[in-house]
Amino acid sequence: MSDLLEIGNISAHYGRIQALSGVSIRIPEGSIVALLGSNGAGKTTTLNVISGIEPNSAGSVRYAGSAIDGMASDGRVRQGIVQVPEGREVFREMTVDENLKMGAFLRRDKAGIRDDFDRVCTYLPRLKERLQQKAATLSGGEQQMLAMARALMARPRLLMLDEPSMGLSPILVQQIFAVVRQMHADGLTILLVEQNVKLALGISSYAYILENGEIVLEGASGQLADDPNVRRAYLGGLAEAT
Ligand SMILES: Nc1ncnc2c1ncn2[C@@H]1O[C@H](COP(=O)(O)OP(=O)(O)OP(=O)(O)O)[C@@H](O)[C@H]1O
Ligand SMILES: [Mg+2]
Repeated sequence: MSDLLEIGNISAHYGRIQALSGVSIRIPEGSIVALLGSNGAGKTTTLNVISGIEPNSAGSVRYAGSAIDGMASDGRVRQGIVQVPEGREVFREMTVDENLKMGAFLRRDKAGIRDDFDRVCTYLPRLKERLQQKAATLSGGEQQMLAMARALMARPRLLMLDEPSMGLSPILVQQIFAVVRQMHADGLTILLVEQNVKLALGISSYAYILENGEIVLEGASGQLADDPNVRRAYLGGLAEAT
C-alpha cells in the first residue's frame, strides 16, 4: 500500500517552547493509524501541522505523492485533508443543517454535495431527525457525530479525528467508533488521536506513541496492545487491558 501521508522529521515551536521534535509518521492509503500519548504530548500539534494550521519549523509533509509544505490550510482541505478538532467545535448557534452545509463551504460541485449530504444522513440517522435543531442543543455525543458529519461534507481523503471519544459515555463511544469503522470500510484513510488507548489499538492497524513531542514507540497495533510496557503505561495495568 502506498502512503497517502508521510511526515518526516517534523519539528514545531510555540515561541521558544518546542512542541514537536523529529516526528515521522506514515499513513498508508486506506488505513487507520492511531496517534497516542498523554496530555501535552503534541498530538493536536501534529494534526495542526498536517492541516497547515500550525507551521513546522523543520521537516516535511508529503501528501498523495507531493510535498505540501507552505500550502495554506484551505488548500489542504480542498485536497482532502480534513480535521475534526478536539472539543468538536460545532457552530453552536447554527442548525445541524447549516453546520453540514458549512462543511461543504469550499466545494462547488452541487450534485456531489447533495450526494454526500444523503450519505452522511444514512451514516448518522440521529442527525437527520435533528436537521433544524440548533447545534448547541445537541447532546455531547450528537455534537461529536455532527462534527464528524461536517468533516465528511468536505469530502475528505484523509480524515483526522482528535479525541472523538472525549467526554462521552461508553455506549456513545461505541456508536462513534462504529461510525469510524463504517467510514473506513467505505474507503477513508483515518488518522485517529485518542487517549482511549485500548479502543484506538483495537480499531487501528498501526500506532505511534508520542511523549514530550517525540515518537517513543511505534508498531503494529496488535503488537503494541500485547506489549507489557504499553499495557503498564497506557492501558491502566493488566487487569483493565484484558
Ligand atoms: N497555542 C499554543 N501556544 C503555546 N503552547 C502551546 C499551544 N498549543 C499547544 N501548546 C503546548 O504544546 C504542547 C503540546 O500540546 P498539544 O495540544 O499538541 O498536546 P496534546 O497531545 O494534543 O494534549 P491533549 O491530550 O491534552 O490534547 C503542550 O506543552 C502545550 O502546552
Ligand atoms: Mg490535544
